[in-house]
Amino acid sequence: MIGTGISVNSITAKRRHPLARFAVVALALGILGGGYALTTPTGGTADAAVASGRADDVSEGRNLFVAHCASCHGWNAEGTAKAPTLVGVGAAAVDFQVSSGRMPAADAGAQVPRKPLAPWVTPATTAQLAAYIQSLGGGPTVPSKEQVNPAMGDAAKGGELFRANCIQCHNFVGAGGALTYGKYAPSLNEATDAQIYEAMVTGPQAMPVFNDATITPDEKRDMIAYITGVRSQVDPGGSGLGRIGPVTEGLVGWIVGLSLLILAAIWITAKKRQTS
Ligand code: HEC
Ligand code: HEC
Repeated sequence: MIGTGISVNSITAKRRHPLARFAVVALALGILGGGYALTTPTGGTADAAVASGRADDVSEGRNLFVAHCASCHGWNAEGTAKAPTLVGVGAAAVDFQVSSGRMPAADAGAQVPRKPLAPWVTPATTAQLAAYIQSLGGGPTVPSKEQVNPAMGDAAKGGELFRANCIQCHNFVGAGGALTYGKYAPSLNEATDAQIYEAMVTGPQAMPVFNDATITPDEKRDMIAYITGVRSQVDPGGSGLGRIGPVTEGLVGWIVGLSLLILAAIWITAKKRQTS
């Protein structure tokens, strides 16, 4: 970045400029953040429940709702200042949110993240909650096992649909990406078959709804086959770096290598100043 026409003295002055330290710290933080994102372990899946609409499920679900959800969503799921109404969101939204550990939310951030399930959350209690919310105002239902079975889908067709509809947020292989205002599209490596389907029909957070007119149920199954299929493609030689190819590899090498050199240079000059 430094022009060749500048004298050694002016470079030294620039390096000692108070802003130079901030630049180095900002760079180091950036590298730490990037490194963390690349190395954070993924794994652990929750088995999604299939909602049944039995009457005792609805009343059990109502009890669970009062105990775990009403403080934010209101006594009758009508919504409060803290959280939106759940009337009409459907069993699919409840199953998606609860089986992925997003709900009950722990605190209000830019986005409620996936987290380990509370001990009371089981496929049975999730189905009861889903049945209760479904009874309030309909909405998308939980898909059957057959409807989300990747073995019955066409992964090649699903890949085309995925590239056309999802990669602007979720990246080519579903590795995720940042959106505006601290929101992000998560990696798709942890979602169960049912959760992938449910995310499409309910459009959580900043994600759009892909209803059956936009993408038919069969096409959704093709996409599940694609998304779960790319997971088993291993990256030879370590981290996938988003699988964009040599571009990212070069960039990461360049930034990390260069920053180490800069940090070393600063460390050396700092020592000199103390002794002189
Ligand atoms: C601490 C407050 C809080 C608690 C407790 C909570 N939620 Fe939520 N919930 C939210 C907020 C805020 C949102 C909206 C933000 C988002 O979608 O990420 C939300 C969104 C949802 C949605 C998505 C609605 C949609 O339009 O798709 C569902 C479904 C849901 N909650 C179900 C539940 C259930 C079921 C429980 C109890 C097991 C629960 N929530 C407990 C705060 C809470
Ligand atoms: C506009 C950006 C955007 C597009 C386009 C988009 N998504 Fe998402 N997606 C998101 C965001 C944001 C979330 C996180 C929502 C949350 O946590 O509440 C998400 C979450 C998901 C999840 C849940 C992941 C998990 O670990 O629980 C799945 C599955 C998913 N999306 C699949 C898809 C598929 C399939 C498509 C294409 C049909 C798609 N998304 C298109 C933004 C997007």
